[in-house]
Amino acid sequence: MSMIDIITKKKLGQALSQAEIAEFTRGAADGSIPDYQLAALLMAIRLNGMTAQETTDLTLAMRDSGDVCDLSAIPGVKVDKHSTGGVGDTTTLVLAPLVAACGVPVAKMSGRGLGHTGGTLDKMESIAGLSVSLTEEQFVRQVNEIGLAVIGQTASLAPADKTLYALRDVTATVDSLPLIASSIMSKKLASGADAIVLDVKTGSGALMETVEDAIGLAKAMAEIGHLSGKPVHAIVTGMDQPLGTHVGNALEVKEAIEVLSGKVKGDLLEVALLLGSHMLVLGGRAADTASARAMLTAALDSGAGLEKLRAMIAAQGGNAACVDDVQLLPQPALIREVKAGCSGYIAAMDTEALGYAAQAMGAGRVQKTDVIDYSVGYILPVRIGDKITEDATLCTLYARSEADAVKAEAAIRAAITIGNAPAERPPLWYAVVTADGVERFA
Ligand code: URA
Ligand code: CA
Repeated sequence: MSMIDIITKKKLGQALSQAEIAEFTRGAADGSIPDYQLAALLMAIRLNGMTAQETTDLTLAMRDSGDVCDLSAIPGVKVDKHSTGGVGDTTTLVLAPLVAACGVPVAKMSGRGLGHTGGTLDKMESIAGLSVSLTEEQFVRQVNEIGLAVIGQTASLAPADKTLYALRDVTATVDSLPLIASSIMSKKLASGADAIVLDVKTGSGALMETVEDAIGLAKAMAEIGHLSGKPVHAIVTGMDQPLGTHVGNALEVKEAIEVLSGKVKGDLLEVALLLGSHMLVLGGRAADTASARAMLTAALDSGAGLEKLRAMIAAQGGNAACVDDVQLLPQPALIREVKAGCSGYIAAMDTEALGYAAQAMGAGRVQKTDVIDYSVGYILPVRIGDKITEDATLCTLYARSEADAVKAEAAIRAAITIGNAPAERPPLWYAVVTADGVERFA
């Protein structure tokens, strides 16, 4: 069959066969199909959708387009966790050490920042010396020795997704439910996990802005997991404001250390405990999420979680002294407190704009080749629903220059709506989706 026939079929809204999906996925991975034909097909998929069967076929074809990581040398149930992307979302650096401290091995492949969202690898690389590039053998050995490793995806992991994702990014076809579901799940299945916890974000900083769209994506991914024999718990959580108070790479590492030190509570910890408790349940360590949460809280209180973070940083070549002295993390040229300048209630945040504000300061890449400045970003102590006075701190900027600080202040002010009427705090989570169905909380 020709690529033109495949595009035509999807253009007419028909379902593609497994063989047709395998054909274009192979071509995406080996470069034999030109970008313009792949781009046309992606747009046809974006407009006409895919059936559950097609989505699963695409996921498995992308998984098999490269190496599938073999984690069988690690005893126990390996549970992975993945977020669809957020701002101030440092849950991995909080929950991975806590889950490992409770005895569930964490062998995690993370990603880099994309668009307005931050990436765990970039955050980790703000620690001097730390490497996220381990061979499969080193990866397995480290998990067996200390219980956790967080590394980058190897070049050979789901190469078809790499090609298709890069094309989607520049053809306005990122926001397709079957394409997102298959992209994420192909990489999770290729990374060798036995079970997967997904954090599906919803709100102004999420790929899926509405709760219903996020639940739809969660269902699609749980279904793919079910059809491929890997249990998935997909939790729909709120991204109507940055999750933690710190946005920026070194700042988010600092916040994770402060949370694991027991100094800071709040939404970041709550979401980390929720996702982590599902990891303990899937890992067979806890019978239910309530007892799992108690185990994670004990690991937090005893300092065992912080010790796991320290061990991981050291094992990956990083300067673990930053755990005791966060001043050792990269420091910016300029730190400036910004006052609210008016009183009222924090009514809403454009979280996507807040993410782009950090990116513009140098915390993320605008072009693929940009070099990140780990030291920059901001601390945002206010939350939706807070009552503030004129001289309250709206944010503290960590900037490279005066000009950057001025621009960031304007962008952050524009992204935060301060109203006169009391505003409700948005829910932290909305639903848990498994192959058994949807349980809603809000
Ligand atoms: N993250 C991914 O890995 N893929 C998508 O399509 C969207 C978010
Ligand atoms: Ca948006």
